[in-house]
Amino acid sequence: MARDILKTLQTEHEKVRALFDKINDTTDRAVKTRGELLEDIEDALIPHAKWEELVFYPAFKERADRDGLQTHAEAVAEHHAVEQTVIPDVHAAEVDSPAFAGRVKVFGEFVDHHAGEEEKTMFKMARSMFSAEERASLDEQYEQWKASSEAQAIVAKEKAKASLKSVVRPSS
Ligand SMILES: [Fe+2]
Ligand SMILES: [Fe+2]
Repeated sequence: MARDILKTLQTEHEKVRALFDKINDTTDRAVKTRGELLEDIEDALIPHAKWEELVFYPAFKERADRDGLQTHAEAVAEHHAVEQTVIPDVHAAEVDSPAFAGRVKVFGEFVDHHAGEEEKTMFKMARSMFSAEERASLDEQYEQWKASSEAQAIVAKEKAKASLKSVVRPSS
């Protein structure tokens, strides 16, 4: 089957949803597992979100009609909320606490909602905006970008930012 950026992004959504199911199943005593799963979630989510912000969303915006522009604004606002508030709140909680479990659950709910909106609305619009060739080419670009040192630097910076903010936010 031909490659398609929309399929790749959707597959990544499913991978992240499965990781949230796992972390939501952990007990407060599973400190090591929770830490590892949070790391896995961020490793999967950050490159995905950053590439959407850097490449996919701008390309979408350029071709969008009025409804598409609203969909674009909504997606960007959700990325902001997760980056600015939801992830820092998770990092501000002790990993062995009910606060962590509750905040991780909200993180997962945000991501599930956002991914669902992309799949039902944005990707549906994008399917008619971009030809099969364009979607295949975007998919190739994304794969190359993920392997680049630029992407790795961005991901490292975002992860550092998330844990830094936790220092200045209250933990309860
Ligand atoms: Fe997104
Ligand atoms: Fe996405």
